[in-house]
Amino acid sequence: MTNARGLRHDDNRSAASRICGTGGVGPRTGIRVGVVGCGYWGSKHVRVLSSLSEVREVIAVEPDPEAAKAVLVAFPAVRVFADLEAALPHVDALVIATPAQTHAKLALTAIRYGLHVLVEKPLATSLEASRLVVEEARRAGIVLMVGHTFQFNPAIREMRRRFDSGELGDIYYIHSARLNLGLYRPDVNVVWDLAPHDLSIMNFLLRSAPKAVTAWGASLAYPHVEDLAFIRVEYNDPKVTGFIHLSWLDPRKTRTVTLVGSRKMVVYDDLAEERVRIYDRGLETGGSGPTHERPISYRYGDVVSPYIQASEPLALQDRRFVECIRDGRNPESNGIDALAIIAILEAIDRSLHARRTIEVEYPLSLASWQPDMPGSIVQDAVL
Ligand SMILES: NC(=O)c1ccc[n+]([C@@H]2O[C@H](COP(=O)([O-])OP(=O)(O)OC[C@H]3O[C@@H](n4cnc5c(N)ncnc54)[C@H](O)[C@@H]3O)[C@@H](O)[C@H]2O)c1
Repeated sequence: MTNARGLRHDDNRSAASRICGTGGVGPRTGIRVGVVGCGYWGSKHVRVLSSLSEVREVIAVEPDPEAAKAVLVAFPAVRVFADLEAALPHVDALVIATPAQTHAKLALTAIRYGLHVLVEKPLATSLEASRLVVEEARRAGIVLMVGHTFQFNPAIREMRRRFDSGELGDIYYIHSARLNLGLYRPDVNVVWDLAPHDLSIMNFLLRSAPKAVTAWGASLAYPHVEDLAFIRVEYNDPKVTGFIHLSWLDPRKTRTVTLVGSRKMVVYDDLAEERVRIYDRGLETGGSGPTHERPISYRYGDVVSPYIQASEPLALQDRRFVECIRDGRNPESNGIDALAIIAILEAIDRSLHARRTIEVEYPLSLASWQPDMPGSIVQDAVL
């Protein structure tokens, strides 16, 4: 496979693509990052990348004239190309923020050109395609990162710190809810759109991956496109059950994760002012008689809301991407991490249709894997 990086020619401002702005106004050092797809989420990448000192230039790739115009208005220094091929010679790395069905093809184009890639979640819409992307990225020795943004969320990191310290005790269960009215996606169901977040949060918190899933879903607005799902995920080590409620058809926007431990309970509410609350609450049981006769008492202690650093998770994630390129490191949210998520998503899809519990078949040895395993670019996990 040809790595076209060596053949890259100098900046060609007369390319057949639409180019605007002067560019090159930043420092001469640093990398040039292209953002492919500048809709709702891609335009946020353009904003945060533009603020990073390690980024010399941000280039946008957006075929839709209205979306391209919006980028030009908001970021006058950003050059905009209508297609990826024309932009390739002008960048060192790409962020892919297009609809999910396009991720694998665009990522492979970038990798074959020798570019580092950050692909938005989900990495691809099948395990087969995801595997190809991860294998080619590894062979090419480029940095492959996946947009599991919550791993960079200071509130989720605080939850994990509390869990790791033993303060919460044994975890009885985790519950996560991601509900809203919309946004209906044309190319994936609600599971492939939203569950990557909940699964990556749970894997990250528990440093593990589930062995089995049981899912129930409904296609309410359109036939054959689930817009409502309830998913049970069973972890073996630690032995914890997770429950995920997803909906594009709910009157209220909800973004919560609840960890119920034997000592304390924690609620993360992404929309609340106090995003993390730690409840010193629980049950005290005693006696040895029949269950219903044993005394039970409830412990009502303090509710604490720790200070959470007000850093934007997307900015932390994109900064990490750029640092990993600079230092030749493997990011925490990497291709192996994404393969685990895609394997779980495929199992959930199978469970939705078969209406029974499905064991997750991982394409890698989880013994050598952790959800945020940093390391060298050459992975030691076995594909
Ligand atoms: N990590 C997160 O928290 C998070 C949040 C929202 C969205 N996302 C992900 O970001 C991606 C984009 O979501 P969105 O809400 O911004 O969608 P969107 O529809 O608002 O934007 C997608 C953009 O991609 C462009 N596009 C489509 N095909 C293209 C191609 N082949 N080349 C270049 N551009 C192309 C479209 O014109 C559009 O402007 C999705 O994968 C989504 O899952 C991630």
